[in-house]
Amino acid sequence: MPRSLRVNHQRIKYVKIALSENGYPTQKSLAYETGLSIDTISRFLNCKPVLYGTFEEICRKLNLDWREISTPDFEPSSLKKSINTQELKRNKYQDWGTAVDVSVFYDRTQEMALLESWILQDRCRLLTVFGRGGVGKTILAAKLAKQIQDEFDSVIWRSLRQAPSFDEIITDLVSFVSNHQEPKPDINKLIYYLRTSRCLIILDNLETVLDVGHTGKYRSDYQEYTELIRIIAEVEHKICVILTTREKAVEMNFLEGANR
Ligand SMILES: Nc1ncnc2c1ncn2[C@@H]1O[C@H](COP(=O)(O)OP(=O)(O)OP(=O)(O)O)[C@@H](O)[C@H]1O
Ligand SMILES: [Mg+2]
Repeated sequence: MPRSLRVNHQRIKYVKIALSENGYPTQKSLAYETGLSIDTISRFLNCKPVLYGTFEEICRKLNLDWREISTPDFEPSSLKKSINTQELKRNKYQDWGTAVDVSVFYDRTQEMALLESWILQDRCRLLTVFGRGGVGKTILAAKLAKQIQDEFDSVIWRSLRQAPSFDEIITDLVSFVSNHQEPKPDINKLIYYLRTSRCLIILDNLETVLDVGHTGKYRSDYQEYTELIRIIAEVEHKICVILTTREKAVEMNFLEGANR
């Protein structure tokens, strides 16, 4: 199965008819209804590759059978080479820490397609999986990370359940992204390395460093985590960070985009 599909040029007229017949006069209205970005909808309508799950999701809204309007998006001659390269990456730059086993995972197809498109197509840099205890945040983040791992140069998973200090987590991250060249908790070094490669970082259980009952404030010894989250969201770099948390940190209200 190809990872992406594109609308077949000869079928685009049926897609345009389906748009108006299903009550979507503009790209914006379809984007609003699906929760996808206008950029993704525009790619779909311009016969450019869209992730497989996203493609199916848009077709569902337009009452179209995706098999009848799609064409796969891969070049067989380059497929083997790309698989070999990805295998190499997988062996070299991944540290899954205490990530959970995802071999048993019940259906979250729509959520997964949406999150995947936010990260891979919209280049979302900070994604928070937020919800009450036991709802499935960790396993969703793990499944998502496994699914998109090949799109990144490196992957690191860290649980914050033991409440590592800011210096400990920065040292750990800098050491990883610098390939163990940097042993100190230097946030500027972290920014430097994050700008140079596409890294996926998953921080599980952010609520551990938040002060329960003080709506989104960090525990007194953990205030510097604010700086880490702000840098992730605001500094220009190629990484993506997935956070799971039972409580939102206060700065997330300012940083988040629509539906994120
Ligand atoms: N989609 C799913 N497929 C399979 N198992 C699931 C799914 N969602 C939740 N579970 C199971 O439910 C339990 C709780 O899930 P998980 O640990 O991901 O919750 P959580 O929201 O991260 O909880 P916490 O806030 O305590 O960290 C786990 O045993 C997990 O395997
Ligand atoms: Mg969890």
